[in-house]
Amino acid sequence: MMKGVILAGGLGTRLYPLTYATNKHLLPVYDKPMIFYPMETLVRAGIEEILIVTSGPHVGHFLRVLKNGKELGVKHLEYAYQEKPDGGIADALALAEDFADEKPITVILGDNTTDADITGAVKRFVDGAMVFLKEVSDPERFGVPVFDGKDPKKIVEIEEKPKESKSKYAVTGLYLYDNKVFDYIKKSKPSARGELEITDINNWYVRAGTMRWVELKGFWSDAGTFQSLFLASEYWAKKSRG
Ligand code: DAU
Repeated sequence: MMKGVILAGGLGTRLYPLTYATNKHLLPVYDKPMIFYPMETLVRAGIEEILIVTSGPHVGHFLRVLKNGKELGVKHLEYAYQEKPDGGIADALALAEDFADEKPITVILGDNTTDADITGAVKRFVDGAMVFLKEVSDPERFGVPVFDGKDPKKIVEIEEKPKESKSKYAVTGLYLYDNKVFDYIKKSKPSARGELEITDINNWYVRAGTMRWVELKGFWSDAGTFQSLFLASEYWAKKSRG
């Protein structure tokens, strides 16, 4: 079974002052710490070996909350420390190279919550990369796929937070990669904001013709801004009331 990686680094500055005293991914989303949601998404997909990449001054809190992950059904939990806390999502992912052990991996961002079931996609995945798209009202906040004029199913590029989006989809923070991802990360350069961007990595796959996508079924939201944190909490509160 595939291994999973949760990227939970960064400084969470968009949530100051909430993140002065703990890591963003340990803040509550309704009745659970944020990181429980991506962990449960992976466990639901049958993934039992997980690496959490984290950073910043409060990393010790993860151990206190998650321990060895057994309460969430994780068989094997590892941690890695991103030394440059805002080095970018791809910089955090680079730390998973040994853990991946030359095999494909499922990657999820630590602030993404979803009730979608990705088991089928994970089971069928062989090589290349796969992104999960979701139709949203504010695509400019995300990575946005640009589709081929002639073949509307084909992604020709992904634009990171474009001023004007060329489609109504967000690239969610859920990705399947083969082991080439680590070569692509080594080849990539920091963006204008000084980060190794996951969108640049995805564009290597797009150019190689090995990027596939599916639409994510169900609820999906990040929880990295006050608004999205609130909306995510509201959704999970309503869902738990049935
Ligand atoms: O949520 C989906 C979006 O996530 C994608 O559509 C974008 O293409 C992608 O760039 C990302 O955008 P954000 O601006 O929301 O990323 P953010 O900086 O908020 O980081 C999201 C998570 O990634 C964060 O909760 C932890 C992890 N991360 C981020 C950075 C910058 C790291 O582990 N290390 C980092 O250095």
